[in-house]
Amino acid sequence: MTWKFWMEKKHKSCGTSSLVPMTPKKPQQWLQVVGHAGSFHVGDYGTLLKRFCKREQQCYLRLMTDTLRPFVPAYHGVVQRDKQDYNMMDNLLTHFNTPAIMDCKMGSRTYLEEELHTARERPQPRNDMYEKMVAVDPEAPTAQERAQQAVLKTRYMQWRETLSSTTTLGFRVEGFRKANEDCHTNFKRTKSREQVMEALGGFVESRTHIVWGYLRQLKQLRQVLEASDFFRTHEVVGSSLLFVHDWTGRTGVWMIDFGKTVALPPPLTLDHRTPWVEGNREDGYLWGLDNLIGILENILPLS
Ligand SMILES: Nc1ncnc2c1ncn2[C@@H]1O[C@H](COP(=O)(O)OP(=O)(O)OP(=O)(O)O)[C@@H](O)[C@H]1O
Ligand SMILES: [Mg+2]
Repeated sequence: MTWKFWMEKKHKSCGTSSLVPMTPKKPQQWLQVVGHAGSFHVGDYGTLLKRFCKREQQCYLRLMTDTLRPFVPAYHGVVQRDKQDYNMMDNLLTHFNTPAIMDCKMGSRTYLEEELHTARERPQPRNDMYEKMVAVDPEAPTAQERAQQAVLKTRYMQWRETLSSTTTLGFRVEGFRKANEDCHTNFKRTKSREQVMEALGGFVESRTHIVWGYLRQLKQLRQVLEASDFFRTHEVVGSSLLFVHDWTGRTGVWMIDFGKTVALPPPLTLDHRTPWVEGNREDGYLWGLDNLIGILENILPLS
């Protein structure tokens, strides 16, 4: 590091030391695990620009005044680059040293109820989705779907969720990247508890203190989620937990990706653990977090 000044950060993010280096203007390193490749730019002073999404902006504005604030990247408003709008937020990797990064998508479904409604309004049989389905599992289509060589989008969305641990555990590993390695993203069919445990184990590499760090932060997050006004009043779908650690032993967990998080019509609220039936809007987020914590605890050697 070339900069020598340290300062107390007022709204420190969870999981990092209270003393963090003052962020220099020069762009910081940033590595992406999953998601759309063209959506991001690294900004100045440790910021990251993500292609503008109104829904995500609304969430970040609300989150900046919620108790969840320490568990999300700080939001800095909208900026324009080459006529494209971006949401500007903290780059969560800034204060790590060649970090390992993992993205876990939370919840028992990754489509919104409104996406189901839209897909039903125009129920077109889709050949492209049929092809994607048979490429993964030739046995998956029904006789009728086989005859039509097509599936409905709603059917495809629901089938796709059953491949991974999304429906069985309430979260899935989207991908991870260890220091100086390529991304591992081959987890689309990682479904059983044992398979998920193996994937998580591959990320933390039997480093017990790293697992302890993550567990402590996940339990803190769970407590804050259970009391958060934002969380109670939103359907949180397709959002991820971003795990970051480095060789110094520092760990951090943050909630990211609110492009599919929507406010509920008052007075509706969610507990995020009740199983989803269409209409109740439940997303299984906390159920998934309970399972994730349980699996990480099982990774630890018995003491
Ligand atoms: N604030 C951040 N700091 C550091 N890395 C980030 C941050 N936000 C996102 N990333 C990285 O970018 C990846 C994709 O982020 P995100 O899920 O927000 O994008 P997306 O394009 O909406 O993805 P998708 O729609 O496929 O889920 C994450 O897995 C993570 O590696
Ligand atoms: Mg994402």
